[in-house]
Amino acid sequence: MPADKLIPDSPSDEAYAVDEDQGEVLTLADPIAQFSEWLALAGRTEPNDPNAMALATADAAGMPDVRMVLLKDIDAAGLTFYTNTMSAKGGQLAANPQAAICFHWKTIRRQVRFRGPVAPVSAEEADAYFRTRSRGSRIGAWASDQSRPMEGRFALEKKVAATTAEFGLKEIPRPPHWSGYRLTPLQVEFWVNRPFRLHDRLVFRREDASQPWRTEKLFP
Ligand SMILES: Cc1cc2nc3c(=O)[nH]c(=O)nc-3n(C[C@H](O)[C@H](O)[C@H](O)COP(=O)(O)O)c2cc1C
Repeated sequence: MPADKLIPDSPSDEAYAVDEDQGEVLTLADPIAQFSEWLALAGRTEPNDPNAMALATADAAGMPDVRMVLLKDIDAAGLTFYTNTMSAKGGQLAANPQAAICFHWKTIRRQVRFRGPVAPVSAEEADAYFRTRSRGSRIGAWASDQSRPMEGRFALEKKVAATTAEFGLKEIPRPPHWSGYRLTPLQVEFWVNRPFRLHDRLVFRREDASQPWRTEKLFP
């Protein structure tokens, strides 16, 4: 590849080295607390959706897939997101209930990766979250056959209109095919950009959720 066709790094490593070495920013012994601190920081610096994360799943044949979803909850039990359970990701999680998640915040040049088993949240938990969504989003959850073929935009608009008419002024319940999943992390890796690609990496691992975390630094 000719050098002038390469996608440029930005800003240049030289400028970055002078201005923006982050130093030691991995300060907490608990990965969930550390992640929450970084997420709060990203919430102040990202232009939108600091809780957006790449969710990687694999189908029954082991073929990987990945898409963005929004993190809706995080605590000691794990990371929760909501979706259509009959979507491609829903089918993949039914066949292979484990996943990986990756956050990358450009504004703070940090990455966090999670791996672990995934389980559906309880109906009560999904109901409670669904009730917090706007009426339009609740109608959308009924109207979209997520990941299945659609003739055209009009097919979606017709379903939105029909759902809106059907519920009228009534409460809109959670669709049976719409719920949440929780990934219980068994591995969490923190990555911090440092000058000249000499980045910091710290990985937390545990055998299962009842075990304590062990940590290890990795070469960048
Ligand atoms: C920033 C961002 C956030 C998203 N959040 C969600 C989400 O929380 N839940 C969801 O089902 N899809 C979300 N999507 C759409 C998904 O990326 C994807 O198109 C959809 O879930 C279908 O994926 P699948 O066919 O692999 O199941 C989001 C997309 C973007 C770009």
